[in-house]
Amino acid sequence: MKPAVLDEAGLVRWGRALGETAARETVFVALLGPLGAGKTRLAQAACAGAGVRDPVTSPTYTLVHWYEGDGGAVAHADLYRIRDASELPGLGWEELESHPGAVFVEWAERAGGELPPDRWEVRLEFAAGGAKRNVTARALGDAPPIPDPALHARAARTPSC
Ligand SMILES: Nc1ncnc2c1ncn2[C@@H]1O[C@H](COP(=O)(O)OP(=O)(O)O)[C@@H](O)[C@H]1O
Ligand SMILES: [Mg+2]
Repeated sequence: MKPAVLDEAGLVRWGRALGETAARETVFVALLGPLGAGKTRLAQAACAGAGVRDPVTSPTYTLVHWYEGDGGAVAHADLYRIRDASELPGLGWEELESHPGAVFVEWAERAGGELPPDRWEVRLEFAAGGAKRNVTARALGDAPPIPDPALHARAARTPSC
């Protein structure tokens, strides 16, 4: 699928919709992409969309932060500090992957085959020039449809003629 090109305001708006739907549908969301791509920014917007009012900070020293959202607990995890899936047992992973609510996981590629098969995958990449990001979003397995990021791309200017 062709990526949507979003500026930060668009990414935040889409993130709110993503979080609202993820909480309602209890979806595990894998956030993929390099350092600085916007995974934490997106997770913050998604947590807000899920009804989290507390400030959402990067879970760098603990694997996961838990928040109270509108429909129950919301998890935000970051796997940056693990090498691979062999380090997951004992870090609270079991609770995360079976959580009946919204879960947002940065550096999810590090969990490899331990990722739940029914999930959303969001890939963020730096777009050429400017502060935009290429955003690819897809639903895997039996996960419900994922909100379309293209709806939040800035509309191209209509040429005046
Ligand atoms: N279009 C955009 N989408 C997301 N973040 C953006 C965008 N443009 C600029 N930024 C900035 O890029 C940075 C992304 O940082 P962060 O979310 O911590 O990345 P990551 O968690 O992927 O390492 C933030 O400082 C944010 O303000
Ligand atoms: Mg981050």
